[in-house]
Amino acid sequence: MSKAKKYMSDIHLEDYKKQYETVKATVKDHIFTGGRKSLSLNGKWNYAVDQYDTCIRQKWFLEKSIDENGLTLPLDYSFDKWPEMELPSCWNVVDEKYLLYEGSMIFTRRFNCTPEEDEEVYLRVGAANYLIRVFLNGEYIGIHRGGSTPAFFLITEHLKEDNRLLIQADSSRRPEQVPTENTDWFNYGGIYRDIEIFKVPKIHIKDFRIALVPDDSYKNVSVEVKISESIDTTALIAIDELGIRCEFPLDKGYGSVILSCEPELWSPDTPKLYDVSLSCMSDKVSDRVGFRQISVKGRQILLNGEPLFLRGISCHEDSVKNGKALSRDERIENIRIAKELGCNFMRIAHYPHHEEMAVLADEMGIMLWEEVPVYWAIRFENPDTYLDAQNQLMELIKRDHNRASVIIWSVGNENADTDERLKFMKDLADTAHEQDRTRLVSAACLVDAEENKIADRLADHIDVIGINEYCGWYTPDFSKLPELMKNSDPEKPVIITEFGADALLGFHGSEKDKGTEECQKYVYEKQIEVLGDIEYIKGMTPWILYDFRCPRRTSSIQNYYNRKGLLSEDKKSKKPAFYVLQKFYLEKERAGKKQ
Ligand code: GCU
Repeated sequence: MSKAKKYMSDIHLEDYKKQYETVKATVKDHIFTGGRKSLSLNGKWNYAVDQYDTCIRQKWFLEKSIDENGLTLPLDYSFDKWPEMELPSCWNVVDEKYLLYEGSMIFTRRFNCTPEEDEEVYLRVGAANYLIRVFLNGEYIGIHRGGSTPAFFLITEHLKEDNRLLIQADSSRRPEQVPTENTDWFNYGGIYRDIEIFKVPKIHIKDFRIALVPDDSYKNVSVEVKISESIDTTALIAIDELGIRCEFPLDKGYGSVILSCEPELWSPDTPKLYDVSLSCMSDKVSDRVGFRQISVKGRQILLNGEPLFLRGISCHEDSVKNGKALSRDERIENIRIAKELGCNFMRIAHYPHHEEMAVLADEMGIMLWEEVPVYWAIRFENPDTYLDAQNQLMELIKRDHNRASVIIWSVGNENADTDERLKFMKDLADTAHEQDRTRLVSAACLVDAEENKIADRLADHIDVIGINEYCGWYTPDFSKLPELMKNSDPEKPVIITEFGADALLGFHGSEKDKGTEECQKYVYEKQIEVLGDIEYIKGMTPWILYDFRCPRRTSSIQNYYNRKGLLSEDKKSKKPAFYVLQKFYLEKERAGKKQ
C-alpha cells in the first residue's frame, strides 16, 4: 500500500503500540523494600476510560496543548478536570457503571519529588491487573505484565520538581496471557495495590534473602545479598536477639554467609519472628523473619522435622465491597476464620495475593501455598507466555522469599497433561527449585479420568502432588473416590487441593438436591470419610473459604457467584459444611498432638 502523503498517526497507524511494548519491567528491576520509608502515591487520581487506546495513539502523556505555531490545539483529554478515583482500588466496585468494564483506564496525578545527588528513585506499583504502561513528565518509562506481582520502574533521570505521572491500566483478557481469557474468577481491573516512591542510595540493596538452611540441623541461617553495582564491598547482618552481628564480603555485588545460631523455630503454634537488619555502604534494610524447615520424606511432609497434616482451606482474593483490593482488616478476618475452622494452612489461589497476606500469616501462625495463575488452558506452546509465567513466579519468590509462613510455591492449576504443558510447568518447577531451596514446589493437578488414578506426569518434577477432585459434585458417583484412592500409589505426599460443592446459604433440601446446604454438607462428610483414612494424603484445601464473584456462574442459586464457599460472600454466615470440616480438623489436631 502506498504511504499516504499526510496522515494522522493516531488514526491511520495501526502499529501504534509497538513502541510501547518495549522497556519491560520484570523481576530484574525489583529492589528490596523491607524497612525502607516510601512516599505514598495512594489517594485521589484523575482518571478516564480509554476504550480505544486513544491515550497512546494521540500521545496524551505529552500534554501538548499548542502547536508549532503557538496556536491552541483541540484536546480530547483534560487531566486535572477528569473525575477522581481513590487508588488503590478495583474500578468494578468503585462505580457500578464499571462493574463489567474490561479494558484500559488512564490514571494520572502530580507529585513532588526532588532526589538528592547520590540517590536513585524507584516507582513501585504493588499490583495492577493485567498490564500497566507508565509515563512520567511526557516520557514513556515502561510496561509491566502480570496482574498480581509488583512492578518497579527506575525514574530518577525523568524526575522534575513537580511531576506528571500517568499510568495506563489495561485489564483486557488475552489468550496468550497468564491466566488466559478463561478463568473461574472475576476479572477485576485497576491499580489495586499500593503505589509508592522509594528513594535509595546510588548503590543500594536489590535483594536480601534470609532463611534456615534446610539441612536438618536447625542451626544454620543462610543470608544472601545482591546490590545494584557489581563491586567488591562488605555487608553487615544483625539479629540482635540472637546476638548476631556479622560482616561478610560481597564479590562483584553479590555475597552470602551462613550464620551459626539456634533460633526458636517458627510454626503455626509458635510463630516466633526475629528482627533482622542488613546494611551495605550507605544503604540499610530490615525485615521480621521466622526460621523453619519444610521438607518431604517419602510420602510425609515435615515441618521442623515433625510429620504433619496440612489442615487447609482454599481462598480467593475477593471482597464484595473491595473486589481484589482487600483491606488489611479483611485479610486478617480471612486468616482468623481459617484458624477458627481449625486450619494450620491456606491455599492462596489462584494468583499471588497482597504481600501483607504472608506477613500476617507469619504473625498469626498459618502456613501458605502461594500460586501463579498458570490456570487451565494456558498457551503452553508460546515462548512469550512462558516468559510471562516465569517472570510472575520469580517476582512472587523475590517478594515473599523471607516469609516463613509460605511453605509451597505452586506452578499452576488444573492443566491438561500434554507434552507442551509438561515442558512449560517442569521448567517453572525447575525455576522455583533453583530460586529457592527452602520451600516445596507443587501444582494442583487433575486426576487421570480414564484410569481414575493419580498419574500426572508433572508429579516427577514437584515435591508434593496437589490433586483437584470433585467426587459428589462434578463426578456425582461417590464410589469413584475410594476407587481413585485404591488405584493410586504415589511416591510423594498428596494434598487434595480441591473438593467441594455449591450451596446457596439458606437454600434447603435433601442431600441429593444440588445447591442446597444439605448437599454440600453431605459432600464434605463423604469426602472426609474416604480421604481421612488414606495414608499418602498429607493435607487438604477444600474449595473454598467463602463464596466469590464469578461471571461464569449464572444459575438461580449462583447469580454470578461461585457458591462453593463454606461461608457466604460477605463472610457473615457459615454453612453447615463449615462445622463438618471443623470437626474433622480439630480431631486431626488433637490426634497430631498425641503423636
Ligand atoms: C476448579 C478450579 C477452581 C474453580 C472450581 C469450581 O477446580 O480450580 O478455580 O472455581 O473448580 O469449579 O468451582
